[in-house]
Amino acid sequence: MMKVLLVDDEPRVVRALDRVLRTAAPRDWVVTTATSGREALEHLDREAADVVISDMSMPEIDGTALLSEVRDRWPGTVRVVLSGYSDPAAAARVATIAHQFFEKPAPVKELISALREIETGRARVPSGLGDMLNAIGVLPAPPSTFLSLTAAIADDRTHIDKLVAIVRRDPELVAKVLQIAGSTFFTRGQPTSDLRTAIGRIGVRLVTALALAASAFEVAPESGLTQEALTTHAISAATEAAQRVGVPRLAEDAFIAALLADVGLTALACWTPDRVRAARARAVRDGVPLHVAEQALFGFDHADVGTHLLRLWRLPADIVAAVAAHHTSDRASLADDPVKLAVYDAHTRLDEILG
Ligand SMILES: [Fe+2]
Ligand SMILES: [Fe+2]
Repeated sequence: MMKVLLVDDEPRVVRALDRVLRTAAPRDWVVTTATSGREALEHLDREAADVVISDMSMPEIDGTALLSEVRDRWPGTVRVVLSGYSDPAAAARVATIAHQFFEKPAPVKELISALREIETGRARVPSGLGDMLNAIGVLPAPPSTFLSLTAAIADDRTHIDKLVAIVRRDPELVAKVLQIAGSTFFTRGQPTSDLRTAIGRIGVRLVTALALAASAFEVAPESGLTQEALTTHAISAATEAAQRVGVPRLAEDAFIAALLADVGLTALACWTPDRVRAARARAVRDGVPLHVAEQALFGFDHADVGTHLLRLWRLPADIVAAVAAHHTSDRASLADDPVKLAVYDAHTRLDEILG
């Protein structure tokens, strides 16, 4: 059973969406509606929701205010924005608190499939991970740059200049885009210092993945890891996976999946650095890979964490699947899937260096 709360100050919009969602999954979803932020909060006070889908511009309590409060008081609730793209400043603000962003008029099919994915994702979270997320009270939004890029890409009218402008707001991302566009894998030898050329060369999908890999979480030093080490590891593994995959048309998928594979480790190093430190010590003591030590200590590993986050943020299913499999105990089971295999092999080899 999944509880969905729909919020929009236009009763017409709420009614229409309500009907659509009820028809889509009449038995599994309990849909309730509110026509103001205040009404939504009153409702949540009585009964928490698994997902809140909110309009942005509403009188009194607007979407940003509502979702900020939801984040603070019900951190386990998935926050979805449904908004007109008329106000880019407001969109950029809400991008820092929403997990997912849809443009109005509501793309009904996409919204339904997003809700189904949220439902499946909830069911698949290992219980130890679910308990940890509840205990630390986070269900993090992706970096705002990622969400802004995703929203901009979804809009067919988006011009490359707009993407360049979004990337430029994030200096760390600019550095990484230029670095990757200048690597031999993409350039065949031609470095570039022009951001627009760089984005054109590596493609928007990869830039979006980089926005996640390079700045999704602040790594806490107590973990014994650094952001720099993790990002360098991610980029090396991505490059190696793309070379290993063998099939040129799959190189980009392998690159992106390997780039994102350890995002769960970065997340753990941000949320619970002591656990990461303990797992690393255990791995050294027992002479086992880090993910094995994590499983022994927590009952889940960083591949589970990454899978959960990337699914929540709606990365493509094949990318999520490759991340999920990057520490499988059964390598032979990946034989039919060149992307999964390349990601697995690249990380297995390079993890020894990350230590
Ligand atoms: Fe890993
Ligand atoms: Fe790794």
